[in-house]
Amino acid sequence: MDSSRSMIRAGLLSPPDRAALVALMGNGSAAHGLTRRANAMLLLDDGLSREEVAKALYLDDDTVRGWAKLSGEGGLKGLPSGAYLYDPDEHALRLIAGADLRRVTGCQDFVDEVRVDQVFVADHARMKLVPAHLRGSYASVAAGAVSQNVYLFCASSGLATVLRAWIDRDAIADALGLNHDQQVLLS
Ligand SMILES: Cc1cc2nc3c(=O)[nH]c(=O)nc-3n(C[C@H](O)[C@H](O)[C@H](O)COP(=O)(O)O)c2cc1C
Repeated sequence: MDSSRSMIRAGLLSPPDRAALVALMGNGSAAHGLTRRANAMLLLDDGLSREEVAKALYLDDDTVRGWAKLSGEGGLKGLPSGAYLYDPDEHALRLIAGADLRRVTGCQDFVDEVRVDQVFVADHARMKLVPAHLRGSYASVAAGAVSQNVYLFCASSGLATVLRAWIDRDAIADALGLNHDQQVLLS
């Protein structure tokens, strides 16, 4: 067999062309991110090491390690559908409604299909130390900081995310059983 037929000469790309192509790999839609993640999981399952997968797919080692860890723990597949309250003391998610509420939270059609739909709620009853006239702005700044962390996590994991202000706050409050002190800020 003539092995040269199946090989393309290495080193054909100029450094700027290589850099542009590597940057292109990191961009794109949620579907593109998920495809890259699926590629990584299949190569790991084929027996390649995390380092080999990272090299083959132009990912960093931490990204591949994170995906492998999530997959080993059952990832999001392990979480039954429903609405969860994040409990910071326990660093745990507490199931508060068994129903799929994604449709309730969004005015845009893509929301019905998202893998995770987060709702940021300010609890004014827990801000007693903050002067009343500042509670709204403190809550908004906090939601902005939290969503920035979500964006950073998603960017580092090859996932897409969209912060949304176009939401039905009354419907969300109703579905989650919120009281008058609990204000829906963003999704
Ligand atoms: C406060 C805030 C509210 C937003 N509300 C919405 C929204 O309701 N619907 C929407 O499609 N995009 C909304 N966006 C824009 C998306 O979040 C934006 O498209 C997203 O950050 C992705 O950025 P990219 O388009 O540059 O990737 C909002 C952005 C901010 C900062």
